[in-house]
Amino acid sequence: MKRKKITVAGAGNVGAATAFMAAQKELGDIVLVDIVKGLAEGKALDMSQASGLCRFDCKITGTTDWGQTANSDIVIITSGLARKPGMSRDDLLAKNTEIVKSVTGQIVKYSPDCFIIVVCNPLDAMVNAAAMVSGFAKNKVMGMAGALDTARFAYFVSEKLGVSVQDVQCVLMGGHGDDMVPLPRFATVAGRPLTELLDEKTIDAIVQRTRMGGIEVVNLMGTSAYYAPAAGAVKMAEAILLDKKTVLPCCAYCDKEYNVGGCFVGVPAVLGAKGVEKVIELDLNEKEKKDLAVSAGHVKELVNTLKKFI
Ligand code: 2OP
Repeated sequence: MKRKKITVAGAGNVGAATAFMAAQKELGDIVLVDIVKGLAEGKALDMSQASGLCRFDCKITGTTDWGQTANSDIVIITSGLARKPGMSRDDLLAKNTEIVKSVTGQIVKYSPDCFIIVVCNPLDAMVNAAAMVSGFAKNKVMGMAGALDTARFAYFVSEKLGVSVQDVQCVLMGGHGDDMVPLPRFATVAGRPLTELLDEKTIDAIVQRTRMGGIEVVNLMGTSAYYAPAAGAVKMAEAILLDKKTVLPCCAYCDKEYNVGGCFVGVPAVLGAKGVEKVIELDLNEKEKKDLAVSAGHVKELVNTLKKFI
């Protein structure tokens, strides 16, 4: 069996963590590519030296040369600036659009049949940019945010209830910003609705902490999170490469779905060998619909703004 090939664009914190987690899961051979000479090469060598200890067999190549990424099955874009304290994700729009545009150009050139998973911010806008620049089929381009935000949501619930995080199921929609839409009505703990287990005030506090989950980490350590974002990206890659049909919120193309009207935005979806195989339409109440419309409207505004950088 031919091993799968995964390219991780960007050898910074998120890129390196993504490559290492993908290697530990033996998802395929990995190419870590970065414009900074020596960075990807050094991190790839370091990870390769860990392979005997961590007991994984896959080739990890670090490079500045996009030629080495040729014929990848999946490219995960982590390249771009990360937030510093006091910055919103939207502050990164102009610079990261330029970076995503250039990286996507290389992807189209060397891996025209791959799936693209975008991780850099502002997430939903960057997914729309990658889709526009690549012209790839819409099921092949997606963004990692919902996996991360629901993981945060589930962790905070598990902590509050003192139960295993593996028994907590959460759903969340909308853009990866302060107006994301966690959906406590759809959250369950070992089959029991969250709304029966915690009072409204406690749930509201968890929802708010989830919305601010990224900036809480930025404020603590001065830069953006990377372990949980990497875990989210690897979960998505695994779902596609192993055709797992995993149900996971991710930034996916929606037209009639939720009346979004032609934009990539966070929604629950089925991920398998065809990429985003289906967007799952939940029966939202009026408040949830309104919150999603506000969040999707915000994403659309950013997409209109970024068009001038493409
Ligand atoms: C976060 O929420 C990096 O946007 C990412 O931590």
